[in-house]
Amino acid sequence: MNVITFGTFDCFHVGHLRIFSRIKTKYPSSTLIVGISSDKLNFEKKGRYPVIPLEQRMEIIKSIRHVDRVFVEDSLEKKGGYLAKYKADVLVMGNDHEGRFDTFSEICTVEYLERTPQISTTEIIEKIHTDT
Ligand code: CTP
Repeated sequence: MNVITFGTFDCFHVGHLRIFSRIKTKYPSSTLIVGISSDKLNFEKKGRYPVIPLEQRMEIIKSIRHVDRVFVEDSLEKKGGYLAKYKADVLVMGNDHEGRFDTFSEICTVEYLERTPQISTTEIIEKIHTDT
């Protein structure tokens, strides 16, 4: 079974780690495939370039034991194409995205798992700005 998830995973933190571990707890024998937003796509989505460049984010995520495979997500419009290309059986996102990907339920199962509270890349960046 192939499970796919997407994100930028900038300034890698425990919320990122836990979404991967939640996926592998729920689907223990699955292949976990992670689509990592390109720097440009993150700018389009969030209005800022990631602190950590794409190649380094990919290197970090590839080394996480829950993750089997990574690829670059360079366009939101290609999401359906990525699901088909990687033969996704399940698309998982954190529940801060609840409902946003339901349109893909024609292609695969769409599921939202609990988001870890009180941590995000945005908050980390803001804290660094405030504290320095
Ligand atoms: N995620 C999570 N718990 C968190 C933060 C993120 O489960 N505390 C999940 C998101 O729901 C998503 C994935 O991790 O499925 C990648 O999220 P991403 O947007 O890269 O991380 P954020 O920390 O939310 O980044 P930002 O603050 O820039 O929005």
